[in-house]
Amino acid sequence: MLHRMILNETFWFGSGAVSQLVSEITQRNFKKALLVTDKVLVQAGVIEKVTALLDKHQLAWQLFDEVMPNPTISLVQRGVGAFKAAQADYLIAIGGGSPQDTAKAIGIIINNPEFEDVRSLEGVAATRNPCVPIIAIPTTAGTAAEVTINYVITDEEKRRKFVCVDPHAIPKVSLIDADMMKSMPPALKAATGIDALTHAIEGYTTRGAWELSDALHLKAIQIISRSLRASVAGDAKGVEDMALGQYIAGMGFSNVGLGLVHGMAHPLGAFYNVPHGVANAIILPHVMAWNAPFTGEKYRDIARAMGVPRVCPMTLDEARAAAVEAVRKLGADVGIPLRLRDVGMKEEDIPALAQAAFDDVCTGGNPREASLEEITALYRQIY
Ligand SMILES: NC(=O)c1ccc[n+]([C@@H]2O[C@H](COP(=O)([O-])OP(=O)(O)OC[C@H]3O[C@@H](n4cnc5c(N)ncnc54)[C@H](O)[C@@H]3O)[C@@H](O)[C@H]2O)c1
Ligand SMILES: [Fe+2]
Repeated sequence: MLHRMILNETFWFGSGAVSQLVSEITQRNFKKALLVTDKVLVQAGVIEKVTALLDKHQLAWQLFDEVMPNPTISLVQRGVGAFKAAQADYLIAIGGGSPQDTAKAIGIIINNPEFEDVRSLEGVAATRNPCVPIIAIPTTAGTAAEVTINYVITDEEKRRKFVCVDPHAIPKVSLIDADMMKSMPPALKAATGIDALTHAIEGYTTRGAWELSDALHLKAIQIISRSLRASVAGDAKGVEDMALGQYIAGMGFSNVGLGLVHGMAHPLGAFYNVPHGVANAIILPHVMAWNAPFTGEKYRDIARAMGVPRVCPMTLDEARAAAVEAVRKLGADVGIPLRLRDVGMKEEDIPALAQAAFDDVCTGGNPREASLEEITALYRQIY
């Protein structure tokens, strides 16, 4: 059995990591950046930490701040236009998963213009060239899009979110700096944090998992479950630990895949613009319980990594129930809603949502094969 691992060329981690930006740019001889971000981050002054550095060192840049949560095809196309108009030669992505994913799609299309329709990038597209170099600076601690080969785009016309999987899309450099994340409001920390936990748990139990990815995912589960509550409560060490935990999860899942939680969460983003982390957080304990009989001893490991006491003497069923309960309790403690109806899901859409989840790229990685009827029943249960 062969296993492939693809990671950033360089990553810097820790408070103040953004200070490494200048040397990373100059040693690569980059000339002009298109900064891909969103208006909230501009208004909150988060991107100033980056632009001040660029200005101080007379490094040229142009701003593209039109990104919205759940980035769309037309947004990507506007970004491609902005990159060309700016005559830039690299991208700096500052933000959560949405600006990171937008930058990846822009960078791929600039160097592979035959995919300018964006839609044809869905799944594993046969791009020939690596994307324009990206320096990724995450401002949420969740998606780990700065280290993944994936990006997710919304097709507004067809009301669907599609996942693109392409090794050519991975950022060259990541600067994971908790100072860029401190301004997240508590609800955003909670939602993005549970997204990271979902990556770690789905990555640990996905079909493609192997010993190296297991090591990464277990460590990520441990760090995330010990630090998320503190991070949401405003503790600086908690935020820094979450930045690391989510990144480690990304190193893993990007290389082995995810599962049905992500498959079911994506349509909720496309239909109702539900934040990605919130959708995952509501679905996770339900799908975990449904998957449990197909996970061997893995839930015992998850329970242990989450700090559940006396896991060893438990029966397998008890250990599995304990893992699901630990996840449910963590979600409740950080204020995640309980039901999909609480985030605007409509019961009459269930057949269409189930079909979209059944077709989603992530669903194939689920440890238990899910039929359309079973996915429909799960949506009804969580509604
Ligand atoms: N590429 C991948 O591997 C991958 C993995 C998981 C999810 N995703 C995708 O990423 C997107 C979700 O990304 P996200 O959850 O990071 O959120 P996001 O990027 O959509 O941002 C959500 C909101 O939070 C705000 N925000 C971000 N950082 C902030 C900060 N430091 N302070 C204050 N506000 C801040 C943004 O301005 C925005 O309004 C979804 O589209 C999802 O499908 C991608
Ligand atoms: Fe995710």
